[in-house]
Amino acid sequence: MENKKYGHFDDASREYVITDPKTPWPWINYLGNEDFFSLISNTAGGYSFYKDAKFRRLTRYRYNNVPMDNGGRYFYIKDGDTVWNPGWKPCKTPLDSYECHHGMSYTRITSAKSGIEASVLFFVPLKSWCEVQKLTLRNTTGERRCLKLFSFEEWCLWNAATDMENFQRNFSTGEVEIEGSVIYHKTEYRERRNHYAYYSVNVPINGYDTDRETFVGLYNGFDCPDAVMEGRPRNSHAHGWSPIASHYIEVELAPGESKDFVFVLGYVENEQDEKFIAPKVINKRKALETISRFDTTEKVDAAFDELKSYWDTLLDIFVVDTGNDKLDRMVNIWNQYQCMVTFNMSRSASFFESGIGRGMGFRDSNQDLVGFVHQIPERARQRIIDIASTQFPDGGCYHQYQPLTKRGNNDIGGGFNDDPCWLIFGTVAYIKETGDFSILDEPVPFDNQPGSEVSLMEHLKVSFDHVVNNLGPHQLPLIGRADWNDCLNLNCFSWDPNESFQTTENKTEGSKAESLMIAGLFVVTGKEYVALCRRIGNEAEATRAQQHVDAMISAVKRDGWDGEWYLRAYDYYGRKIGSNENEEGKIFIESQGWCTMAGIGLDEGMVAMSLDSVKKYLECEHGIVLNNPAFTKYIYEYGEISSYPEGYKENAGIFCHNNPWVIIGETVAGRGDDAWSHYRKILPSYVEEKYSTLHKVEPYVNCQMVAGKDAARPGEGKNSWLTGTAAWMWLTVSQYILGIKPDYDGILIDPCLPQTAQEYSVKRKFRDAEYRIRITNPKGVSKGVLCMEIDGAPVEGNVIRYEPGHHEVTVVMG
Ligand code: BGC
Ligand code: NOJ
Repeated sequence: MENKKYGHFDDASREYVITDPKTPWPWINYLGNEDFFSLISNTAGGYSFYKDAKFRRLTRYRYNNVPMDNGGRYFYIKDGDTVWNPGWKPCKTPLDSYECHHGMSYTRITSAKSGIEASVLFFVPLKSWCEVQKLTLRNTTGERRCLKLFSFEEWCLWNAATDMENFQRNFSTGEVEIEGSVIYHKTEYRERRNHYAYYSVNVPINGYDTDRETFVGLYNGFDCPDAVMEGRPRNSHAHGWSPIASHYIEVELAPGESKDFVFVLGYVENEQDEKFIAPKVINKRKALETISRFDTTEKVDAAFDELKSYWDTLLDIFVVDTGNDKLDRMVNIWNQYQCMVTFNMSRSASFFESGIGRGMGFRDSNQDLVGFVHQIPERARQRIIDIASTQFPDGGCYHQYQPLTKRGNNDIGGGFNDDPCWLIFGTVAYIKETGDFSILDEPVPFDNQPGSEVSLMEHLKVSFDHVVNNLGPHQLPLIGRADWNDCLNLNCFSWDPNESFQTTENKTEGSKAESLMIAGLFVVTGKEYVALCRRIGNEAEATRAQQHVDAMISAVKRDGWDGEWYLRAYDYYGRKIGSNENEEGKIFIESQGWCTMAGIGLDEGMVAMSLDSVKKYLECEHGIVLNNPAFTKYIYEYGEISSYPEGYKENAGIFCHNNPWVIIGETVAGRGDDAWSHYRKILPSYVEEKYSTLHKVEPYVNCQMVAGKDAARPGEGKNSWLTGTAAWMWLTVSQYILGIKPDYDGILIDPCLPQTAQEYSVKRKFRDAEYRIRITNPKGVSKGVLCMEIDGAPVEGNVIRYEPGHHEVTVVMG
């Protein structure tokens, strides 16, 4: 397949610039940082929501539609008989020029047609509940031009799930109000909702529409709405059916003249006794306040500058200069940006996640934490407490919780036996970054029950013990419903397609299903737990815990080694999974990753052998596949993993999330060339250069999954944006390859580099200090710090002891 690029990176502006609207898949960006969020594609498709993509959806979106990416914020420009959109869609009128700049929490689309240039800047200002759209129209010709401008948004009736199914009700509930240039959407506000939405523009309008059928025409598409085609708004009032918001503005532009129009799509909540100012007339005060904050170009530009400096600050905490622009742009810009988006969204809303299916994952959120803890530690702290509050007294956890209520999700329940370990993982990362041990004393309830509070440290203890108390016949961890691999459902045994693989447990009693992935994870996080206990002076607990860790290491060596790699699991009956004895699924990535990271059997050569087996059996051109050989038939005892066609998702797809585990394993073994070679295969900027067309999805972020070697189209990416890959890529490159590792007392310097790496420097803000670290590698080694100087003075070892202030550090490898 020939590689065609659809744009390019602009590192100075921290943007990806798309120059062809016909990308092989909608390439999206995220707007919003705290409460109000929007998804926006390169043709301005997408939707907005307040906090929760399911329960507070502002605008409607049509997933997986024909044509693709239907619904969004559309501006129609009618110039004589020609109608066009700055984002190309929905009219798809050929444009004279088109550029979409996806930047840090903003998107700007600029197009031109017949001498008119239209540029729209979309962003959610900091600390506000709205999306601002600044449209600039410019006449680049020598003649006076008269244009008709129509805006368009379609309201969602708040609950994104029922909005798509409960039509017998929905078609009768829609209500709007129009006042001045503001269109208010107030469906269900008369009853239990305390919130409404609005869409405004900062100039007087010449007309409007709020009823979809009237505006579009029942049998038309968004590409030819009646009102626009005829150049005549209908001033319609929606009553039920599908309310929309469209402003109509007549625009005159002198030669060379340009005009700005600021549109605001916003959300308001009112107290019960302040909902109305007269019967049926909603209280618009808060909406008007917000609108007035953005009613001039100057105010919008100032808000945009604030957003830019917010990102300047966030991206100034870790800055690397290696001279390799493909690496630098991912580390300094896009990887950190993706981590932040993943933190905000968890797995809820993307063009692959509908925003209605899933809450916040217990394990997912703990892993996402390591991607942003250096940027917004206060929010990481809160996140840890929220997550821990959904734990049960025995250390088990709800697998998911709802962002709006922060309660554990009963529909999915618990029983994923890796979950507890991740709480240790997340908490330790937080303390190492911040030095804030006080979080350990924070009272945290079980299952959100008031009165059940114990210290967070106690939560870590029950997390650790949950593994210890749930060992199987080989003294390896019982897997429960599943471990990290949600699709390895060893106790599920389902023949009913209406059963969920995730929640069905037909066979658990007497199960012998054990997980080597949890074993490795337990050794890694268990060692951290031991070190933490020691730190806080609890020697007895440290000693007790260490014995369990040691026992686990012995169990893995004894019963978890297959000769050339670590086994993956034992099934319900105690039969091996991920063994040379198996016909399919002989080797799996997860246990290779975790057991090598844990260094189990390092001295006996197990780590190196396991990593070599990964290269031999799992590695391919596009990354490391999850298992090999892929399953070619459904295996009732294994569950969902064998339900996927070969090469996709958990059945031998390149599940990018787990590639970093092997890469870190390579760094534990000191094999810098191998670590780098695995890493760059899934690094988006390298993929972009060679495989933009094949890869299909956004070239600036990682996907959850890239089709593996057994797939029909190896290398094709899917499920972009919301994936634990972001945080793991960040951890891998920042701490294990570049070797800047936050620790309790300071920063540990321990790079693992390809031998060709000569030198690089890192600026790292850490607590109240700022370090400029220059690392040179004169002998071309992969690992090992020969000597180090801090502020000109030689130091023993490779730890920069934390001291506030500005410090210069030089490190020589060798
Ligand atoms: C997906 C997994 C996911 C699980 C639970 C499966 O279909 O393949 O990646 O974790 O569903 O949502
Ligand atoms: C996606 C889920 O969000 C995550 O929790 C899981 O570990 C992976 N899929 C692998 O199955």
